[in-house]
Amino acid sequence: MIRNDLTEPFMSLRPAALSLSLALFAALPATAEQYRLGLITPPPHKWTQTAGSIAAEIAEATEGRVEILVMPSGQLGNEARMLQQLQTGAIDFAMLTAAEFANRDANYGVFYAPFIAADTQAAAALLRGEVAQELLGGMDLFGLQGLAWGMAGMRQIVTSGEVTEAAQLKGLRVRTVPLAPEMDFWTGLGAAPTPMPLPALYDAFANGQVDAMQIDHEGTWNSGYWKHAGTIIDSRHMIFPMAAVASARKWQGIDVADRAVVAEVFARQVAAMVDLYGEIDAINLARLEETGVPVIPADRAWFGASVDSWYEDWRNRAPLLAALEAEAGALE
Ligand code: BEZ
Repeated sequence: MIRNDLTEPFMSLRPAALSLSLALFAALPATAEQYRLGLITPPPHKWTQTAGSIAAEIAEATEGRVEILVMPSGQLGNEARMLQQLQTGAIDFAMLTAAEFANRDANYGVFYAPFIAADTQAAAALLRGEVAQELLGGMDLFGLQGLAWGMAGMRQIVTSGEVTEAAQLKGLRVRTVPLAPEMDFWTGLGAAPTPMPLPALYDAFANGQVDAMQIDHEGTWNSGYWKHAGTIIDSRHMIFPMAAVASARKWQGIDVADRAVVAEVFARQVAAMVDLYGEIDAINLARLEETGVPVIPADRAWFGASVDSWYEDWRNRAPLLAALEAEAGALE
């Protein structure tokens, strides 16, 4: 029976093709399985490139037993949908923003504390700290195996009109990720946060459905948002964490030795990617400065009292925020 199932697809092949196909088939490891990794970033984005490089290294290190197909640009759905699919085991791996976690448990929102990290090095240190480890270890509550914390570039602001001071952000429809801590930051500034997934952003900004966006320099350059920009605000006001995860269900089905390989490759390659973000931000900022769109700096004081109000509110909502603030304080 099994033999028939295996040989039937080859019956229509010509003899030369048949022997080649059988040779290839025989070369596949007996337990080879193809896994899928979903993420919302487009192919040129560093997350997608890193995912491809992780998949290649894992395929080689496990001699083809763990083949991971990378599905970028939200092909497997938005992050809410991907999380559901990870929980049922319909997909196997993902690189996710922390949005879906933060919306379920406020503690996962602490990395979005405004100005918690002075730069990408401080951000990297926090993502390797004790709070980060506790949160990664707690992902079994979401039906996931946490593999690594990564990040994108520091959050910046792109507006369609000219902006020179924070008061001009009032009333603007600002694209955010569907994520309470980001949205609260904008509500505090008197703007109208407009949650929108990344793949929908270019058209929405170009068509004037939103007046501004919270984004990073990498996306602003790669996706061409700058072409419709009146001002780029180099604010570096938030970290933007990424969680590399596996479906807990599917994870249990991977051979123990292969799991160790997969975990090690994800941890090492994601850490290397995090360490590159200072350079990625700087390169893309330099490119944006060449476009002729005004680029203005903005620090914590530029945003006024709303940042302090954000902390007062979120210290009550997320008990781990105080611990993260202590870690950040120790870095100064
Ligand atoms: C965003 O939605 O802004 C975003 C998502 C993933 C990576 C970078 C940015």
